[in-house]
Amino acid sequence: MSDGYDFSERIGRVEPSATLAISNLAAEKEAEGADIVDLSVGEPDFDTPENVVAAGKDALDAGHTGYTSSNGVPELKAAIAEKLRGNGVDADADEVIVTPGGKQALYETFQTLIDGGDGSHPSPSGTSSHAGDEVVLLDPAWVSYEAMAKLAGADLSRVDLAPHGFQLEPALDDLAETVSDDTELLVVNSPSNPTGAVFSEAALEGVRDLAVEHDVAVIADEIYERIVYDAEHVSLASLDGMADRTVTVNGFSKAYSMTGWRLGYLHATDEFVDEAGKLHSHSVSCATNFVQRAGIEALENTEESVEEMRAAFESRRDLLVDLFDEHGVDVDVGDGAFYMMIPVADDDQAWCEAAIEEAAVACVPGSAFNAPGYARISYAASEERLREAVDRLVANDLL
Ligand SMILES: Cc1ncc(COP(=O)(O)O)c(C=O)c1O
Repeated sequence: MSDGYDFSERIGRVEPSATLAISNLAAEKEAEGADIVDLSVGEPDFDTPENVVAAGKDALDAGHTGYTSSNGVPELKAAIAEKLRGNGVDADADEVIVTPGGKQALYETFQTLIDGGDGSHPSPSGTSSHAGDEVVLLDPAWVSYEAMAKLAGADLSRVDLAPHGFQLEPALDDLAETVSDDTELLVVNSPSNPTGAVFSEAALEGVRDLAVEHDVAVIADEIYERIVYDAEHVSLASLDGMADRTVTVNGFSKAYSMTGWRLGYLHATDEFVDEAGKLHSHSVSCATNFVQRAGIEALENTEESVEEMRAAFESRRDLLVDLFDEHGVDVDVGDGAFYMMIPVADDDQAWCEAAIEEAAVACVPGSAFNAPGYARISYAASEERLREAVDRLVANDLL
């Protein structure tokens, strides 16, 4: 029996987001009255700073409710360029596209750079197939990179950072073996979701050397750059040789606790912006007008709030590290974002199911990030709830 739809081969290549699946399950159980400690969510547990909310309301009152120019309102693009110059990136307002969330910026980047294969690569013997462009991911990798690469028809190659304590510097030899003249795009996410690792300048220079040698474009996903502890964030595009091959992606969700506002951006060369801008204008038209105005306030007047949130995340990380240490769990501790990968069981999926069903603690299986044997913990939760989570896992023999 036909259901009337003939779904594309393309959409069949991807699965729904594994992180959203777990948080939906946690929400369902909560709706049934369960008290779940939800450590699966990728969003700060703080309110958006009041002055940003006020700027959004003022913008609505002032009538900023129509379309804006497709790539974004000039004042916001100028503020973004200034922010990037503060990171040492030679940025101009015309080289920015403002997007509804960093995700859209990433999606546009994959679609702009990647030529797809015919979906049958590697070919079953005897049939001809052509491969898509090669995209290299660093595992554990955030769930949506793989999905976006596949939607664009890419072929994926992966370098595993898990044996290197999730750091990139000791994995540079592995990366050098993987990146070749056939590579089109490499994705670097520092600070990292899901590990919290912040890559050193030396590691990023290693990336630069390979990118230049093999003429590879690089996505620098810097969405967690404001949540860094004992390390320094370096923007890849600030390194010599990277200005015209980097797409810097960033957004307001994490730094300013603005997940639901949907505001992000990309920065790249004029030429890239011309090409990606076509997709942008034909798909989203523009990011929401009054939200963009609030974004200006976020960039210009939130230093104190950003620092308060950063400091809270740091002390939660320290608390968790101490608690895991007390229970003999050896964690590769990251210096940023608000995530930690803890070693659990070979079957991390079963462990996470037990964690939610028996201990009422929601975590994301490491397999979702191509890191089986781990679970991702998001510490965007109060210290009290973090203690409660560890107590419950211990009481149920899960740690
Ligand atoms: C690594 C990474 N990049 C990009 C994003 C996109 O965030 P948003 O679309 O809310 O800006 C996320 C969100 O979880 C993320 O973790």
